Amino acid sequence: MSRLESHIRRCQAQCKCIERAAELMAELPGPLLELGLGNGRTYSHIREHLPGREIFVFDRQIAAHPDCIPDGDHIFLGEIAETLPLAVERFAGRIPLVHVDLAPEVIREIAAQLPRLLCPGGIALTQAEARTEGLLPLELPEGVAPGRYFIYRAD
Ligand SMILES: C[S@@+](CC[C@H](N)C(=O)[O-])C[C@H]1O[C@@H](n2cnc3c(N)ncnc32)[C@H](O)[C@@H]1O
Repeated sequence: MSRLESHIRRCQAQCKCIERAAELMAELPGPLLELGLGNGRTYSHIREHLPGREIFVFDRQIAAHPDCIPDGDHIFLGEIAETLPLAVERFAGRIPLVHVDLAPEVIREIAAQLPRLLCPGGIALTQAEARTEGLLPLELPEGVAPGRYFIYRAD
């Protein structure tokens, strides 16, 4: 598979997994978290599929498309190792969806904090495995290859 095809499949997997996650947590109240705002593409997709929801974003720098930059009250700017514990303190047990679009080693480092953020039944969507106590892996949508994305439910 060419790198272009691999990139396209990753984007398709992100779209499908965000849409599945949105269905799974649609009835759960609370703010959503986007860890790794980047260009804002996945933030924009989450916003489209969960309109009207409050979304907080995390990144060490803001370099997103201007349409995808929330106001300053909804940005956690800095290293995730420093900002995520602040979010855990503020939102403990109240988050219905956290999307983590960070490098695998960073995801491994922060995985144990994800169940502390989530409300019962809340969903963590991660681009690398986040095996940790309190997160139950769910089936991927049809057409998403195993290992390409990960969906977990807080148990
Ligand atoms: C793969 S990109 C995110 C892409 C984005 N979700 C999108 O769809 O456009 C990862 C982002 O995470 C940020 N990032 C990576 N490691 C980080 C860390 N340790 N702390 C904070 N931000 C980090 C990078 O600056 C980058 O913007």
